[in-house]
Amino acid sequence: MHIVIIAGGTGSRLWPVSREAQPKPFIRMEDGYSLLQKTYLRGLAAVDVESVTTVTNRDLFFRTEDDYRELSPSEPLHYILEPFGRNTAPAVAAAALELQQRYGDEALMMVLPADHLIQDEAAFAQATASAAMAAAEGQLVTFGIRPTHAETGFGYIEVGEDSHVTYGQAMRVERFVEKPEIEIAEQYLAGGRHLWNAGMFCFRVGTLLEELTTYASELLSGVKGALDSAEASEIDGHSVTRLCAKTFGTVVDDSIDYVLMEKSSRVAVVPCELGWSDIGSWLAMAELTAPDQFGNRVTGKAELENTQNCYIRSDRRLIATVGIQDLVIVDTPDALLVAHRDQSQDVKNIVQRLKVQG
Ligand code: GDD
Ligand code: MG
Repeated sequence: MHIVIIAGGTGSRLWPVSREAQPKPFIRMEDGYSLLQKTYLRGLAAVDVESVTTVTNRDLFFRTEDDYRELSPSEPLHYILEPFGRNTAPAVAAAALELQQRYGDEALMMVLPADHLIQDEAAFAQATASAAMAAAEGQLVTFGIRPTHAETGFGYIEVGEDSHVTYGQAMRVERFVEKPEIEIAEQYLAGGRHLWNAGMFCFRVGTLLEELTTYASELLSGVKGALDSAEASEIDGHSVTRLCAKTFGTVVDDSIDYVLMEKSSRVAVVPCELGWSDIGSWLAMAELTAPDQFGNRVTGKAELENTQNCYIRSDRRLIATVGIQDLVIVDTPDALLVAHRDQSQDVKNIVQRLKVQG
């Protein structure tokens, strides 16, 4: 299996810890590993790995390399560096084209986003084995998580009526809908036939490229152009492909979910319970830390007095609270967030405003 880690996005809902120069994959969890490192280790543990490619922004290259170096990888790594983000479709397409050149159409690739957490690694290993079988049969394989609420930030996977049509453990997908409106998400949740898309995919390289040729031929040829004129080099024993900015600039900005998963009729899903969390907000991050008897969850140093139901995270300083409830407090060296826990999603509005102000 060829692992493809996509890690070039910017997260805004975990500001101030996650930001442009320090996106979500670099956030360290309580065990000391970053989400990126955990993604890499998880991939390596789950499948028989033939190669690992990381597709990311060129500005994040050294940070990414540092994170991997801490893990002392035994195999050489491969990087595809983008001059700027064009979302996940071009990133995945670039990896597929390179894998085709090196290993041919039959190679299987596993796309792993580096921005979420999986707690049940054994279940993940099992799911990837099922996905590999279905991918070898020519399916575009997704991983389906049972939804717990009407979340509008995810893709929804509708399992086919004929759910007896299977590819090993994978089922035929009737329809894939990326980020539906809240009313639709509520209907899906109530209907009980939809799963959340975990954002991971398993493809046979040849199948993926055929489907991209059918549904996104312009995007594919743009990426091909950027690869043809890419600069290849070797750094610290790892191979690095730098996509050509001029050509890559002409490629449309879109996600693999919209470009392909919503359109293709060759989509299958492996339903799985992985202890999966996309850590989409500080509230979701809080849930990863056990609460004290007053419902407070603390990472770092804090002294609490008459405080209930708060999430407090400090990388350095001591945080002291008196007489507060239901707050999210996140401290970093140059910015402090104080939010009501019910509105922690809206941190992204602050990030937008800060961007406008420069
Ligand atoms: N190299 C590269 N270049 N990586 C990127 C880029 C890019 O331009 N944009 C995003 N990524 C990486 C992110 O770092 C992340 O690891 C992954 O691709 C997914 O991108 P997001 O932008 O976080 O996608 P999303 O969360 O909105 O939606 C996706 O994930 C959901 C689950 O977390 C979709 O696949 C949804 O369908 C899915 O439910
Ligand atoms: Mg995401």
